[in-house]
Amino acid sequence: MNRLKRSIYVLSLLSIAFLSVQCKSEKKKEVEVVPEKINLVTISKEAYGTTSDSIAVDKYTLKNEKGMEIDIITYGGIITKWTAPDKNNNYQDIVLGYNTLAEYEKATPYFGALIGRYGNRIAKGKFSIDGVKYTLNANDGPNHLHGGVKGFDKVVWTAAETSTDSTASIILTYLSKDLEEGYPGNLKTIVTYTLTNDNELLVDYKATTDKKTIVNLTQHSYFNLSGDFSKPILDHEIAINADKFVPVDATLIPTGELKDVTNTPFDFRIAKTIGKEIGVKDEQLTRGLGYDHCWVLNNQNEGVRLTASAYEKESGRLLEIFSDEPGIQLYTGNFLDDTLQNKQGGTYAHRTGFCLETQHYPDSPNQKDFPSTVLSPGQTYNSKTTFKFSVK
Ligand code: BGC
Repeated sequence: MNRLKRSIYVLSLLSIAFLSVQCKSEKKKEVEVVPEKINLVTISKEAYGTTSDSIAVDKYTLKNEKGMEIDIITYGGIITKWTAPDKNNNYQDIVLGYNTLAEYEKATPYFGALIGRYGNRIAKGKFSIDGVKYTLNANDGPNHLHGGVKGFDKVVWTAAETSTDSTASIILTYLSKDLEEGYPGNLKTIVTYTLTNDNELLVDYKATTDKKTIVNLTQHSYFNLSGDFSKPILDHEIAINADKFVPVDATLIPTGELKDVTNTPFDFRIAKTIGKEIGVKDEQLTRGLGYDHCWVLNNQNEGVRLTASAYEKESGRLLEIFSDEPGIQLYTGNFLDDTLQNKQGGTYAHRTGFCLETQHYPDSPNQKDFPSTVLSPGQTYNSKTTFKFSVK
């Protein structure tokens, strides 16, 4: 081979070697392609409307791979839609509410809302801390109910989102100023709603204050597990893990007694339908116009545990509620009276939705034997509740 031929030969060998290395590395690249990340639960956001005082309200949708879909608006942290499967895996909306922001602003019995600063009633809106007297707005006859005239259900929350491979969350924040509705202290509240792919909604409440105050937060969804909001909820089977309940006076303020449920219509230790004893002659049922009472939950030092459940036979839908709270209020929609617009058409009739609100007992600030609801600067209020849906 002459010199030229040899050079050409060497060059060709080199290019073949180079090309084969290229090919190999390209092949390698193919293998290395990272699989697309699958989010089992997604979160999306869209504009929902504008309040009468011109504040923009967004709607967040949490959706899991199974098919559960939850719409939450930044006004009141309200759950406006919540779908759950029936025994044929048919997902239907199971919470009462409205189709427009204007309706939520105009008249709402706290449909789907976050309740604060104090869920439930405080007698005459009065209480004192360390000898300092406070007077809250009275908005329920003589009493203060669910945070007052403009409680947490009627304010616009700031929202942020976060997610993991198997959950998605909306984080709602609201700063309630010192003496808002009469409550002491600047209270910063953070509520995180997290949807899992196991059809659970986790609600985590946190709050901090710069002055000693009281806090008792809850969620006020009205459920009708049939998915048909024209049907009364009397056939829903309820179980409440409580040996005692909190009897109330004629204005629904606790008498101070914690009463044994044995041989009363308030015994839900073994599941029974709401309708089974709601009509019996009983002074407490007369006062509440049905069930509108707080139960003293068992196993209070166990942290988050099963507190109550609701089951609707026809659909097979089962709702289980886990919480670390000492109490749960069962309210059977006794004040629904065909005056509010049903989002499915028509109006909401008597007892077409029920609430199971995890919380501390009503009027705790005035009842020294009830678990305390006082929050001091430097402490963090933390309460957790999980709503889990399945079928049976
Ligand atoms: C209370 C009821 C009240 C209802 C408001 C419930 O949490 O216990 O007494 O009427 O909220 O719609």
